[in-house]
Amino acid sequence: MSSTELQWGHEYLMVEPDHFRVDYSINPFMHLDDQPDPLRTRSEWLAIIAAIEAAGGSVRVLPQLPEAPDMVYAMNLGLALAGDSPQVVLSHMRYAQRRMETPAADQWFAEHGFSSRSVGRDGVGAHFEAGDAFAWRGELIVGYGPRTEELALKHLAGDLGVSVRGFRITHPGMYHMDLGFCPLDETRAMVCPAAYDDASAAALLALVPDPLVLTEEEALTFCANSIVLGRTVVMPACPDRVREQLEEWGFDVVVVEVGEFLKGGGAIRCLTNPLDVRLGRDLVPVAGGRVTLPA
Ligand code: ARG
Repeated sequence: MSSTELQWGHEYLMVEPDHFRVDYSINPFMHLDDQPDPLRTRSEWLAIIAAIEAAGGSVRVLPQLPEAPDMVYAMNLGLALAGDSPQVVLSHMRYAQRRMETPAADQWFAEHGFSSRSVGRDGVGAHFEAGDAFAWRGELIVGYGPRTEELALKHLAGDLGVSVRGFRITHPGMYHMDLGFCPLDETRAMVCPAAYDDASAAALLALVPDPLVLTEEEALTFCANSIVLGRTVVMPACPDRVREQLEEWGFDVVVVEVGEFLKGGGAIRCLTNPLDVRLGRDLVPVAGGRVTLPA
């Protein structure tokens, strides 16, 4: 039985990786003695764009600030919401080393017709990193703990007038929601229970009608850090068992190797920020907003 395709996921913002380096270590994958090779970095980045375009999608490009080596992980620039009045919730990065990315994101979104808001800024207020947030089945699915703070969920729900479901991330290696969870279509999603505390893992499994449950080992290949364009899943890696299930469900798996970007702790979802999530279509308005946390 097939399930309805995701309606978003065809338009992305990416950051040109002219200054990608590992200058500091804010996740377990970053090692200062293992620097990315610039030529390989560029060819991997171009291969992602080629895969998106081959699947019928499009990419817009923002230049990288020389002093912001992690800016290549465009997913964390903000939560963009298209629609009649496009808006973006800018990230308020947990680590000061990434906070200079936000003004550049703000400027790009303003130039492209988005009004911006944020849940905190310059180290004041709740942290929110957009790699923790997904629109799915009308609600906003948000991971919190390592990066996004629980308080941010209240702001997101109230400011946007949507239903937010929070899941507490406890695994140090799956520090963003997009490492342990990947919506595939309207009923299916990859889920790695080992990324969350017990109550959150149970709540997430209960929320997903048809979960593709990942072991910790599978998720640490970054296979959930994938993007979906209709029936095409563009993945940094795909363990055999995961591929079998995806193909049985009718997905085409496209693997794009991004070994250089793994050195910063990110892969394909981290490098791409969807610009076609629509408020009112992909996120259903709820008067006053609502936050649901696991018991
Ligand atoms: N080095 C970046 C950081 O630690 C990697 C970001 C990965 N992005 C993501 N959406 N998971 O912030």
